[in-house]
Amino acid sequence: MDSMQIVPRLIQKFVPTSYQLSLIINRIERSFGGIVTVIGSAQPNHNIISLHSKGLDIESITVDGKAAEFSFAENDQLNISHPDITEGNHIIVIAFNSKLSDSMHGIYPCYYEHEGIKKELVATQFESHHAREVFPCIDEPEAKATFDVTLTTETNVTVLGNMPIKNQVVENDKLITSFHKTPVMSCYLLAWVIGEMHKKTAYTKSGVEVNVWATPAQPSVSLDFALDIAVRSIDFFNKYFGVDYPLTKCDHVALPDFGSGAMENWGLITYREIALLADPKSTSIAGKQYIALVIAHELSHQWFGNLVTMKWWNDLWLNESFASLIEYTAVNTIEPDWNIWLDFESYDTISALRRDSLSGVQPVQIDVNHPDEISTLFDGAIVYAKGARLLKMLRRYIGEDTFQAGLKEYFNKFAYQNTEANDLWMSFNEICDKNLASFMKTWISQPGFPVLHVKREGNTISLTQQRLASRGSIVSDVLWPIPLNSNYPEMPEIFNERLITIEVSNNTPIRFNVGNDAHFITHYDDDLLKQLISLLKTSEFSAVDRLQLLNEQCLLASAGIISSADLIPLLGSYADETSEAVWDIICMAIGDLKKFVDINTDAEFKLRAFTKRIAEKQFNRLGWDKKENEPESDTKLRSTIISLMLYSEVPDVISYADNLFKSTDINQLDPELRSLVISSVVRNTSDEKLVKSLLETYSETASCDLKQDINIGLTSTKTAQTISLLLDSIKNTSIVRTQDVARWIAYLVRNKFARKETWQWVRDNWTWIYDTFGTDKSYDDYPRYVAQALSTRQQLKEFKDFFKPLLTDPALTRVINIGINEITDRVDSIERDGESVKQALLNL
Ligand code: BES
Ligand code: ZN
Repeated sequence: MDSMQIVPRLIQKFVPTSYQLSLIINRIERSFGGIVTVIGSAQPNHNIISLHSKGLDIESITVDGKAAEFSFAENDQLNISHPDITEGNHIIVIAFNSKLSDSMHGIYPCYYEHEGIKKELVATQFESHHAREVFPCIDEPEAKATFDVTLTTETNVTVLGNMPIKNQVVENDKLITSFHKTPVMSCYLLAWVIGEMHKKTAYTKSGVEVNVWATPAQPSVSLDFALDIAVRSIDFFNKYFGVDYPLTKCDHVALPDFGSGAMENWGLITYREIALLADPKSTSIAGKQYIALVIAHELSHQWFGNLVTMKWWNDLWLNESFASLIEYTAVNTIEPDWNIWLDFESYDTISALRRDSLSGVQPVQIDVNHPDEISTLFDGAIVYAKGARLLKMLRRYIGEDTFQAGLKEYFNKFAYQNTEANDLWMSFNEICDKNLASFMKTWISQPGFPVLHVKREGNTISLTQQRLASRGSIVSDVLWPIPLNSNYPEMPEIFNERLITIEVSNNTPIRFNVGNDAHFITHYDDDLLKQLISLLKTSEFSAVDRLQLLNEQCLLASAGIISSADLIPLLGSYADETSEAVWDIICMAIGDLKKFVDINTDAEFKLRAFTKRIAEKQFNRLGWDKKENEPESDTKLRSTIISLMLYSEVPDVISYADNLFKSTDINQLDPELRSLVISSVVRNTSDEKLVKSLLETYSETASCDLKQDINIGLTSTKTAQTISLLLDSIKNTSIVRTQDVARWIAYLVRNKFARKETWQWVRDNWTWIYDTFGTDKSYDDYPRYVAQALSTRQQLKEFKDFFKPLLTDPALTRVINIGINEITDRVDSIERDGESVKQALLNL
């Protein structure tokens, strides 16, 4: 990719109001073509109309019925000229052709097999700027228009579009389907899916028809869960946003090949199979919760994103951050027993804080000059998780009622229009008199987050803020307006100075960021920390409090503010813990300690024994088998605890897993335990036949859950032979789908035994990675996943040697720089704390 100049906005020259699009799709010949009629108005002083068009063969163009000249210019621009083009309305008709490709964007085939027969669907993915690969258009979110679409396809297929079908006929052995006119909308939200599919249908309270679709390779029961969640989510949003879902139907389709997780196309939401289909026999509770969150996320976009759309891609973060917050709000309302906000804590909060503590990280909001840059700013931990956390902080600051009332105001005022972030802050400001625009600006435009240092001497508390970053601190002048949310009333609501001292009268343990809604962490002095730890086992401390305390200590340790050895006694006080979300952090903290101990050393042995010591109590309580009527949180916790027991290498536990595997058909294994059981068996076997048969099942099964579990299982191998077998399989699309490659690499490079070979594989196959993912937003995942795992000085050098020459690729610049910092931090931390961690373990 070239370095990005500011791309011209075509809407400044021509404003489209409607499109009539007729598209003929020839799946067998891998081609499509059609005619688009665009009506719109040329702006003053522009006698050339420019549309976006990429990879399309243009056959002919007329303007107001007269043949026009055309030429191509950079930035995918199709320039149309005719002497009659003057200010005002024009009708442009363009005939064009192009090819289907396997890129998973634009219009593309998805592959699957059913009853031994290879079959295909045809699907689309237009966000962020791939509509131009399918028809000439003003491919900018601000260019909202109506769309009348007609598709000509093979017969005997289901044809889905954004709107319900208006008319469908067979002519000359072709199926011609026309859809109702869409409301005014941005073209990145258009979508079609064509092929053999089955569905289930239900209706919302307001009468919207909701369908869930999948290929015939998927069992019909696997549609039920999604359907129920989708219907109830729309009911929820209708109320919560104060504006009803504006279309009469909403389709949800599981696609066998899908580049990202899911896509909120208006009225036709597309998903990866694993993000939509829950097979009652094969999907774990965590899997279902993930599906519910994804559905709620995409449905929230039907309002925030589709009904009201950002003017330009620089506010894409707001779309995604908002959906990432609101998905939890919806799921918490429709499934209150799940306590889903705890998952926000153990997933979004943790990933946001971890990523945001690395030097070189991006701020939430960055300029987007060219839509090609979008793939470079898609650091999910920042744009999704940190962004969501900042909106959650804002919500706490203004209160839930104001937040909701502001949203209602926003949707009513801006429906079918485009907005900028400030329009949202202003809608909240209609009801609340805090200066929200300036409060939010600091948080979204500065990278990183503050650590609040708290010291108490007598009755004087001193507070200082500083950016938390690797190697202790970054000396800089940045300050944040921190909502302290303290339990001490003497503390100010917002702390926006470098240092303050405050006199207090009370002696109870002081706390900051109670509820963990604000994006900062606290470094308490030793005595204050001791007081807090003493609350750990009391009812004064909630699950969020316990999780927050441990997580903050882990972050302080990685930054070198405290020693990682201090985590060991702290972890020791979590043995009575019963909350599954807190256990996620305990697991993570143990994972952090693993980097300090070498394979097969006494220290590693001690770490395993220590892990057993803290997990054993819960293991004894939960056992292997699900108890009648146990809470779902216990069912989920069981797998976390067993994974720790397996890490501890308790022989009984390993042989129990082994027996389970041997005595049960893999399809019948409990989905809560299946990936653990397969991992344990694979880790402890040198039987190549077994590995091969697992890989065969992996490539053959249509069950995305089983696939994922086998993927996790196989990639936990310790055997050199298996590692090379797996690496050799990655590029074979009949084994690993292109959409899943990044996951294979991520799992393998995380495995200590496979790290070296996987890292070598990434380097050896870089050209293939570039060719396959270079234009995709998953491209930068490769350096990212590698940097999350490499942990020696030698590997740091190798990372630099390999990636520094690629720094000139704008899609990789940031991720490489962060990667170098991240590995450096890790290596430094191992050198700094390694001996004391090992000593602490050996002294246990
Ligand atoms: N709109 C996004 C997907 C997207 C963003 C596609 C930018 C192309 C460019 C969608 O709403 C989304 O966020 N999908 C997530 C999954 C989601 C549930 C967190 C994804 O695909 O990772
Ligand atoms: Zn989204």
